[in-house]
Amino acid sequence: MIGSPIERIDGPFKVSGTARYALDRRETEPPLSGVIVGAAIGLGRIRRIDPAEAEAAPGVALVLTHLNAPPQGRLDTSTPAQFSRARPVFTDDRIRHAGQAVALVVADTLQRAQAAAALLVVEYEPEEGEFVLKDQEGYAPETANAGFATDTAVGDFEHDFAGAPVRLDRAYRTSHQAAHALEPHACQARWQGDQLHLWSSLQSIRNARAAVAATLCVPEEAVHLDAAFVGGGFGSKLNMHVETICAALAARILDRPVRVSLARRQMTSLVGGRPETRQRVRLAATPGGRLTGIAHEVWMQGSRDEEFVEQTATVTRSLYAGAHRLTRHRVVPLDRPLAEAVRAPGELPGLLAVETAMDELAYELGIDPVQLRLLNDVAIDPERGLPLSSRRLADCLRSGAELFGWARRPQAPGAAREGRLLVGWGMASAIRSHFQSDARAIVRVAGDGHIQVLSDMTDIGTGTYTIVAQMAAATLGVPLEAVEVQLARTDLPAGGGSGGSWGAANTCLAVRRACEALKDKARAGGVLAPGLEAEGSIVGQADDPRYERFSQHAYGAHFAEVAVDMDTFEVRVRRMLGVFAAGRILNARTARSQLQGGMMWGIGSALSEAGHIDPRFGHMVNGDLGEYLVPTHADVPPIEVHLLDDVDEGANEMGIKGVGELGACGSGAAVTNAIYHATGIRVREFPITPARLL
Ligand code: MOS
Repeated sequence: MIGSPIERIDGPFKVSGTARYALDRRETEPPLSGVIVGAAIGLGRIRRIDPAEAEAAPGVALVLTHLNAPPQGRLDTSTPAQFSRARPVFTDDRIRHAGQAVALVVADTLQRAQAAAALLVVEYEPEEGEFVLKDQEGYAPETANAGFATDTAVGDFEHDFAGAPVRLDRAYRTSHQAAHALEPHACQARWQGDQLHLWSSLQSIRNARAAVAATLCVPEEAVHLDAAFVGGGFGSKLNMHVETICAALAARILDRPVRVSLARRQMTSLVGGRPETRQRVRLAATPGGRLTGIAHEVWMQGSRDEEFVEQTATVTRSLYAGAHRLTRHRVVPLDRPLAEAVRAPGELPGLLAVETAMDELAYELGIDPVQLRLLNDVAIDPERGLPLSSRRLADCLRSGAELFGWARRPQAPGAAREGRLLVGWGMASAIRSHFQSDARAIVRVAGDGHIQVLSDMTDIGTGTYTIVAQMAAATLGVPLEAVEVQLARTDLPAGGGSGGSWGAANTCLAVRRACEALKDKARAGGVLAPGLEAEGSIVGQADDPRYERFSQHAYGAHFAEVAVDMDTFEVRVRRMLGVFAAGRILNARTARSQLQGGMMWGIGSALSEAGHIDPRFGHMVNGDLGEYLVPTHADVPPIEVHLLDDVDEGANEMGIKGVGELGACGSGAAVTNAIYHATGIRVREFPITPARLL
């Protein structure tokens, strides 16, 4: 049962339209519709705002601006708990970034709200802003995201590098990226007395509840959230956003249910996205290809009021050997929205740089790129000196090379041609830290004898409902059909939700422990009697001795073949293959689907995904999916995913790690390295568009 590739138990709801996403829910009387108006300047202040015409438009119930918004809790950046911070709206006349919410227009229909929003008069006093990452030095933050150290140093890198027989010193750039979930951020709000009910699209119920309560200055117990179905998040729904607060405020003022959704373009101005980076990678090696030193320095886009430091150089801390090591994160504050977690935060841009540098070194030394990585594999964590929980990187590399047919690859770049097409093969390693959050679950026997599993964990499209049901059925020895899974409500046991690829391991461990406790109770009484109930929980990594004892990561190896048109430099990915060691797999189908999806992010990062920021006005020019190019079906070749057996007892008692982000780690570099192999042209700015190859 555990690991078997069963189809999603919620699949039929999704394909029949009976899965109710935030705005589909009809627990309320027909809601009013709110439209958010975004600032038309990148920095400055609102000189005048005149709502009269909008207020007089047909069907309009409310125009909310800084002139009439109720007082709210203040953003407090001194607490480390970024996801539960108050996020007030319409606080004053300041415009801190392009598209910032300046008004909410609520009407009886969405169309009337949109029409009225166009009538709102807003006059601005613009100021000169700084919107684009250039060569600024920035500042050293206290820590990077997820508690990682800002800088690390082992040995004496500068000295080693200065005297090394082989030296590589390269600069790379990665682009701003958006997390365009299929379902935009959306919320329906209804007040019943002093109780607030929210149907909102979120990754973590518990954090969002705290954020809503802090913003509205109400007790957490008065906030009831439900996110039973979420149409994707990719990190962008870890933070609560303006639509949720706007809906809640308007519903309270009007004493009517209100729904608010971001428009697609607003997902690039009211949601932060992945910060742009500049990166410098230095490798010191012997002529035989053994690394003696490795340094990875990162400068990234930041914002003025709040900090998000993508942990970009952390991949370098555990991936390869080398006695002398240095990593560094610097932040350049710009007049841009707060950057946020986007799938594989840190690893995606970090591995684009480091795995390109490794490829460059391989060619410089005339060593096969797979061989170079195998030569620099490690048996203990090269920075922390800790034992590694299972590390099957070498197995991933060898088995991937074998399955891909790597031995048939001509060594020299530009050597394989098919007519006007230059054909190239590239590869890269994948590494991703294993995280643990806390999680709780209740398992109970319902009146008719079926099993209910209850947790506030979300299923953001990843397959949580299914793996939770599998774990409960397997542990209790009941058929899958006898298990009902309820998720993502504040009345259910609270945990960390979906994020950091921790959701599957945490929730399923809590469910397993709850099932074991239930079995113990049943044993005492003889049967799984109706009414019987037990709870299971796991604690966060800070409390888990394994986290201190081991360096914990998931691993993989990516291989890609591209064809490059020698006249137009159009790049097509022709096939991709990934081999992964990511702990015990809970469902081979949903795991494979997560890894494939991640690998597609690699294609996007390598070839097309880039948010273009207007240097004059600070807005993202290509805010919609017609211009922000994610890979479509036509861009995605057959992708093979292979999973190695990897029960990792250094991670937890079931040996589970996560797969949600691993596929997006390193896959981009496999594609960009294949482009070099095809063309002999090394591009160090990503994505590699035809213009950058010309
Ligand atoms: Mo993930 S970017 O931590 O949801």
